[in-house]
Amino acid sequence: MEQIIWSEDLSVGVKLFDEQHKVLIAMINKLINDPAATTMSETVSDILTEMTLYAQQHFKSEEDLMIEYGYPHFDEHRSQHIAFRKKVIELCTSAAGGADVVPQVLLEYLKEWMTQHILCEDMEYKQFFKEKGVW
Ligand SMILES: [Fe+2]
Repeated sequence: MEQIIWSEDLSVGVKLFDEQHKVLIAMINKLINDPAATTMSETVSDILTEMTLYAQQHFKSEEDLMIEYGYPHFDEHRSQHIAFRKKVIELCTSAAGGADVVPQVLLEYLKEWMTQHILCEDMEYKQFFKEKGVW
């Protein structure tokens, strides 16, 4: 599978968020680079840790800025972040239980998150923050 290379097409217009999104892309690439990774592998445990941090730090950055500027779609956006947080807990539980599908589920979920969340939901705030002069 091809690595994902960040380009301006992926930019949501806010520098900090682009940098944080690159971290998510790095997670996807790490999984792509290690197709034989098992649930008990270092790759999978690293990704689960990174996803936990990502959900704490990056989502907080987005949500704080949305609150500060009164983003009109905050509630819907936040509910997607909550779903991601729940998914991370679910995947950690599956991994701890030894479910062998974890690496595949992780890769699919992160790719889907990139296309469904970053490229759709996050792109929706691009114009909003631009108009507010945030970049
Ligand atoms: Fe988001």
